[in-house]
Amino acid sequence: MSVRGSSDRGSHRRWRWVRGLRARLALAISLILFVSLGTAFIATYRGTGTQVRNQIDQDLKTDARAVDDRLGYDTRPRALVTAAEIYIQDRRSYGATARLYLIRVRGGTIVSNLPELSPEEEGDQRVGRDVLGPRRESGEARALRTADLGLSTVRVNDEPLRLYFVSVIRGGRKVAEVGVGESAASVGRAQSGVARTFLVAGSLTLLVAIGLGFAFATRLSKPLRRMATTAAEVTAGDLSQRIGSRGPRDEVRVLSDAFDSMLDRLEDAFARQRGFVADASHELRTPLTVIRGQLEVLARQRDVRQEDVRHVDEVVRTEVLRMERLVEDLLLLARADEGELVRPGTVDLAPFVEELFDSLTLTADRRFELGELPQGRLIADEDRIAQVVRNLARNAVEHTGPQGLVRLTVTPLGRSRIEFALEDDGPGIPPEQRDRVFDRFHRTDTARARRTGGAGLGLAIARAIVEAHGGRIYASSSPEGGARVAFVLPGFRAAGRRAGREQPARS
Ligand SMILES: Nc1ncnc2c1ncn2[C@@H]1O[C@H](COP(=O)(O)OP(=O)(O)OP(=O)(O)O)[C@@H](O)[C@H]1O
Ligand SMILES: [Mg+2]
Repeated sequence: MSVRGSSDRGSHRRWRWVRGLRARLALAISLILFVSLGTAFIATYRGTGTQVRNQIDQDLKTDARAVDDRLGYDTRPRALVTAAEIYIQDRRSYGATARLYLIRVRGGTIVSNLPELSPEEEGDQRVGRDVLGPRRESGEARALRTADLGLSTVRVNDEPLRLYFVSVIRGGRKVAEVGVGESAASVGRAQSGVARTFLVAGSLTLLVAIGLGFAFATRLSKPLRRMATTAAEVTAGDLSQRIGSRGPRDEVRVLSDAFDSMLDRLEDAFARQRGFVADASHELRTPLTVIRGQLEVLARQRDVRQEDVRHVDEVVRTEVLRMERLVEDLLLLARADEGELVRPGTVDLAPFVEELFDSLTLTADRRFELGELPQGRLIADEDRIAQVVRNLARNAVEHTGPQGLVRLTVTPLGRSRIEFALEDDGPGIPPEQRDRVFDRFHRTDTARARRTGGAGLGLAIARAIVEAHGGRIYASSSPEGGARVAFVLPGFRAAGRRAGREQPARS
């Protein structure tokens, strides 16, 4: 089993270069070229054959007309034979010359420059009188003698012979048939020439194409190989590697840019993750340090007073509460990261907001205002949305003094979205901080300076909940110059509006 596995791996390695992009691209280019060259070859090969054959046919027709002319106008067979013999005598026998002449005179006499068809009669000096008896006649000779009118091809001396026969008409009567033939070997020769040229030029072109294709593919796939190396080098500890490919913005460049920006995001995410862990540890350590300090002070005291115990108890309780809240918030964010934060249901908007607003007014001594409420239903997780509103309201309360304004408005946007906004008349959030306040553990400098206040998770939790609903959250400034933090949710279905209320600050 393991032997087979290793030999499999070996053959895998052996064939890896074939499966590589470079080899495949080079092979594909060569294959395309091979098919194109093959098609071009077939077309040229056939075209050349047709062209040479047409030329031969044309020459044969011209020659046959010339023979016809030379036969004269004496239509007696004897005179025709004599005229034909005179014409043939001027030509050399076929074989020495390229042309075959064959005149079939009415009455059966054949005159030709092919010796086999018209051998000299004994004692007769004339060329071309046919005295062949059937017993001496070869198949080739018979084929020539009996060839049809018009164009045909017969085999003579193991070569194809192109033949043209035409009737000699005198006074409206056919008196003889003139045949002219020429070896069609030149067609084959021309075609072999084409084949040789294609073989040499084609092989060279193919070789060059394979080389160029390989070089081109090497160049093209270089960023891909760099990407593979970079990906192999990237570890959670070192995300600083980049491909940084230059050159035209082709698909490979787009891919490598996407890879680089993915690494950017990963690096950023890892850095934030590290920061988050560091911040979380710091936030958890602070109350622990306070608790330990308090306990140590208490332990060092010889005679512990009841009052000191009460004080330490109070401090420890506060810090433990703070830790509990922190751990709860962290758990909630972890659940958000795992995508199981919200369980949406149908919320009857107006009663839900009114009840929520009432509970907010009990939390602090502020001027709470509630805007006009739309009637309708919202598909959302009631408890989570209430948690977001409470977080925003707590921030507004924390950043305003007694009698400060805390206003909640709920406004439909379009047909199916709704905006919740919390506005205050506090110092507001500086424009450059408005995106970052939603980051985990982010607090503006002023908030950081204050000893009180939370860990900087309230808005991060609000964002996680809103985004889990498919909505978005953003900060701006309120008409009073304070902060306005709003979120928009989808899944709203309107049914009318209900008048707003004002809740005077409790005194
Ligand atoms: N209404 C506001 N006015 C001014 N600054 C605000 C307001 N709301 C939020 N901020 C700023 O945004 C920062 C982040 O708010 P967030 O609610 O996330 O954290 P936090 O209130 O400091 O702590 P936590 O909510 O965890 O108790 C705050 O520290 C504060 O600097
Ligand atoms: Mg907060």
